[in-house]
Amino acid sequence: MDRTYNLNGSFKPTTKRYADLDGPDFYPTPRWATFALIDNEKFKGDIWECACGDGAMTQVLNETGENVVSSDLYDRGFGECGHDFLFTKRKCQNIITNPPFNSAEGFVEKALSQAREKFALLLRLAFLEGANRSRTIFHKNPPSRVWVFSERITFYPKGVKATGSGTTAYAWYVWDKNHAGSTELAWFKPGYKAKYS
Ligand SMILES: C[S@@+](CC[C@H](N)C(=O)[O-])C[C@H]1O[C@@H](n2cnc3c(N)ncnc32)[C@H](O)[C@@H]1O
Repeated sequence: MDRTYNLNGSFKPTTKRYADLDGPDFYPTPRWATFALIDNEKFKGDIWECACGDGAMTQVLNETGENVVSSDLYDRGFGECGHDFLFTKRKCQNIITNPPFNSAEGFVEKALSQAREKFALLLRLAFLEGANRSRTIFHKNPPSRVWVFSERITFYPKGVKATGSGTTAYAWYVWDKNHAGSTELAWFKPGYKAKYS
């Protein structure tokens, strides 16, 4: 646990990197961020939420009528636990998740081989930067689309009331095997936060 996280008796919005109050890199995704993806990207066939946490994303995907299987390395009381995505041999038509910050590159690499059609990862916008990623992921397998949030996502530990605005920008990165050409950059329209929170 990061003891600097709860300062002066109140929780502050996390930068996701430091605060981890309940196991390695566990931050449930606010509902509206998943709705924004599904409103703008179509997924044909089954979806695998391969780092499902307590099912925050899966529940939205179920609500929007997707057929979802869920797993996580840790037991968070939801889905199949003990399944390490970084070493998986399982394949699926589509993969959607918010991966652990510290293994984001590994999730991209693995999803490239395990998603048959399409995969979408919720990552920091700053994931676009970096010499190493430029030489590897973005040179060899750039995403098909990057959906930038026009509203800030704030990640809080489960059960903590969201009161502030985040300081980190996020985007949905989508790899679509049927996409030809260079990476498209797109922006979600404002309003998802108010409509789906
Ligand atoms: C940022 S949380 C997101 C949880 C959920 N996807 C959501 O959006 O609400 C990342 C999740 O990845 C899980 N995780 C960490 N390493 C993993 C691995 N190697 N394989 C599968 N899941 C992993 C953590 O247990 C945690 O639940």
